[in-house]
Amino acid sequence: MKTIIEPFRIKSVEPIYMSSREERESYIKDAHYNLFALPSQRVLIDLLTDSGTSGMSAAQWAGIMIGDESYAGSPSYLRFEKAVRHLMPFRYIIPTHQGRAAERILFGVAVKKGQYVLNNTHFDTTRANIESLGAFAVDLVIDEGLDPSSMHPFKGDMNTEKLTAFIADKGAENIPLCMITITNNSGGGQPVSLENIRAVSKICKKHHIPFFIDACRFAENAWFIKMREDGYKNTPVSDIVREIFSLADGCTMSAKKDGIANMGGWLALNNPAWEEQCRNILILTEGFPTYGGLSGRDLEAIAQGLEEVVQDDYLHYRIASTEYVGRHLHEAGVPVLLPVGGHAVYLDARAFLPHIPSLHYPGQSLAVALYIEGGIRGCEIGTVMFGRQPNGTEQPGKMDLVRLAIPRRVYTQSHMDYVVEVIIDVFGKRDSLQGMKIIEEPPSLRHFTARFDWRTEDHSKLEKNTAVG
Ligand code: F0G
Repeated sequence: MKTIIEPFRIKSVEPIYMSSREERESYIKDAHYNLFALPSQRVLIDLLTDSGTSGMSAAQWAGIMIGDESYAGSPSYLRFEKAVRHLMPFRYIIPTHQGRAAERILFGVAVKKGQYVLNNTHFDTTRANIESLGAFAVDLVIDEGLDPSSMHPFKGDMNTEKLTAFIADKGAENIPLCMITITNNSGGGQPVSLENIRAVSKICKKHHIPFFIDACRFAENAWFIKMREDGYKNTPVSDIVREIFSLADGCTMSAKKDGIANMGGWLALNNPAWEEQCRNILILTEGFPTYGGLSGRDLEAIAQGLEEVVQDDYLHYRIASTEYVGRHLHEAGVPVLLPVGGHAVYLDARAFLPHIPSLHYPGQSLAVALYIEGGIRGCEIGTVMFGRQPNGTEQPGKMDLVRLAIPRRVYTQSHMDYVVEVIIDVFGKRDSLQGMKIIEEPPSLRHFTARFDWRTEDHSKLEKNTAVG
C-alpha cells in the first residue's frame, strides 16, 4: 500500500484551542513577537520542538504507575539502566533530568577554559555550556551540510579532513572532547553515516581524544543508516544502534527525544576517573545516582520508550511522516532543506524571503507569519539563535532556517495537511513580509527571551541578502 498509516490508535485526546487570525495578531504582539513567550493554548499546531512533547504509549503510562520512588536502589533505575545499556553498551550510566544537565556535568569535568570542543554542529545548549566555561565550540560539518539544496544522504557527517587539520593546528592536548550529534539537529536534522562515525572515532583514538555522541535522535539516525547506507538494509535497527555506540567513549542523551518520554536524560561513559567526578557533581546538583534528576516513574517511561523507539513500524512511520510534509512543500516550490531530516522540516527562510537580509531575521519574520496565518508555532534556527558572537558582535548565521519539529505520535496526517496548506499560503504572499529587529535581549541564548518588533523600512531599497550559506 502507498499510504503509511500511523501505527497506533488514539486512546486519550487533548483539545486544540481554536483562535482567529485577529486574535493571533494580538497574542503575538503581547508576546513581543517571540514564539517562546506564547502560552501554548494560543497555538493550534505546536511544532516548536519534538523535545518532551511525545505522545506516550499505554505501556509507558502503565510504567508510570509501576515506578518505584525509592531514594536509592529503585528497581525502576535497574530497568532504565538495562534498557539503556542494551542499546548503548557503556560501563557507567548516569541519569539526569534532561540532556543539558548531562552536558553540563560532562563538560564541567572534562573541559577547561581556552580549550576546543569539536562537533559536527553543536546544539545551542551544548554550545552555551561549553562557552560558559570559557572554551570554544567548533563546528566541523561537511560543506554539503551547510548547503540547503545538497542531496547528500548524510549531511550530518563531520569533515574528517578539517578534523585532522584542526587537531594538527591546535594540538590534541587542547581538545578535551570530540562529539558527533546524531541526527545533526542544528544542521537540519540530517543523519550521520556509520562510515563517518567510524572514521571520526578512529581519528580521535589515534590522538587520544575522547569521542562522545550527542545521542538525542539516535534511533532516527539509525533508521537513515538502514535506509541509505550500503550494507545495512537487513540489519536490525538495534544492532545498528549498538554498532554506533560501540565506537564511542560515551554519550550525552536527552530522553525527551528518542526516549519518547516527557522528561529525562543521561550521561554514559567508560572512563572510571571521569565517572567518579561526574557522579559527585550529579549528587551535588541532580540527585542520588540511581535517580539523577528523575522520578522512578520517569525512569520506567524511558525504559519502555527505548524499546518502542527502535521498532521498524514506528521508525518507518516517523520518518515517512516528516518526509510527507517536506515533499508536499517542495513540490509546491517552497524552499525546504533537502533531503528532509528526521524529526523536523526546515524551511529555508533566506531563500523564502530573499528581500530580507539575515540581520533583519528572515527566519523570525517567517515563523511569526506562520503563527499569525495559521496558529503554527515553529522555531527560528539562524541569525537570531546563532548570530550573536562571544565577543558581542553580530554576524549572519550560517543559514536562516525555520524549524517545524514534529512531536512523536502526536499529530495526524490531517494536521500535517493543514500545516502544508498554511505554509503554501504564506509563500504566496511572501513579498509582503517584513524583517524584524530586536528590542531587548539577554547576554546569551537570546532566542528564548528576546523581544522583537517589525522593521518598517521598504526592503526593496535594501541590499539583497548576500550572506553565504
Ligand atoms: N543536544 C541536541 C542535539 C538537542 O537537540 C538538545 C535539545 C539537547 C542536546 C539538549 O537536551 O533539551 O533535554 O536539555 N533540543 C531540543 C530541541 C530542546 O528543541 O531541539 P535537553
